Amino acid sequence: MPEWYADESFWESFYPVMFPAERMDSAWVQVEQILALTKFGGKDVLDLCCGPGRHSAELAARGYNVTGVDRSDFLLSKARSRSDAVEWVHEDMRDFVRPESYDLVINMFTSFGYFDDKDDDVRVLRNIHSSLRDGGVFLIDVIGKEYLAKIFQPTVSYTAADGSTVVQRHEIFDDWTRIRNHWVLIRGDRAKTFTFHHTLYSAQELKDRLQLAGFGDVAVYGDLEGGEYGLDARRLVAVARK
Ligand SMILES: C[S@@+](CC[C@H](N)C(=O)[O-])C[C@H]1O[C@@H](n2cnc3c(N)ncnc32)[C@H](O)[C@@H]1O
Repeated sequence: MPEWYADESFWESFYPVMFPAERMDSAWVQVEQILALTKFGGKDVLDLCCGPGRHSAELAARGYNVTGVDRSDFLLSKARSRSDAVEWVHEDMRDFVRPESYDLVINMFTSFGYFDDKDDDVRVLRNIHSSLRDGGVFLIDVIGKEYLAKIFQPTVSYTAADGSTVVQRHEIFDDWTRIRNHWVLIRGDRAKTFTFHHTLYSAQELKDRLQLAGFGDVAVYGDLEGGEYGLDARRLVAVARK
């Protein structure tokens, strides 16, 4: 069985749901926040799992040298149509490594924890560590386990921006380390179901993995503005320095 994230029909079908105009436009503010939170003063940026390239394109428009890496041809084609100032690379995050080449690496919108073998997550973090120059910084933004535990509902449904109905069923498994999601996309009278899973990290677990990968200085926040990773945190954002 191919891995779920290698199924292009998943990204194609959910594109309008995952990346509505509002989310694409939010990249502008998010890039401002990323640059402020990391106190960024470098030039070379890697957007790992760049998807449709919303952050990469914004960073390139500001004059940074940007590499956007993703393994979805479909999403990279969307990215290419956003900017020709970015180096777009089709590669798996487990394999992409360019030693000492970047001052900033970002991994946004829960693009981490996708592998059956959890050691692969550490391999990705080691690649990132190796791709950074000394003093470089890595920012990762995922849904945190603590927040998910607080808001968890087995079934959720909503109408997406494009008018389709989405029904999501969620199961926690593997000793509260992973979530399995069944997403049903209903457009008109047609329904498609996709099942995928990913590893969930608490703040401490993510810090531990980052330290295992070689990062010495790791801070966690509850949003990209640098809010506390406390009860009100909606995201788990870690900023790790090499
Ligand atoms: C939720 S999307 C986020 C995209 C982008 N970071 C953003 O914020 O718009 C997750 C992305 O991870 C990419 N991805 C999934 N598995 C991957 C892998 N093994 N190697 C590289 N990219 C991967 C997907 O193709 C998708 O673009």
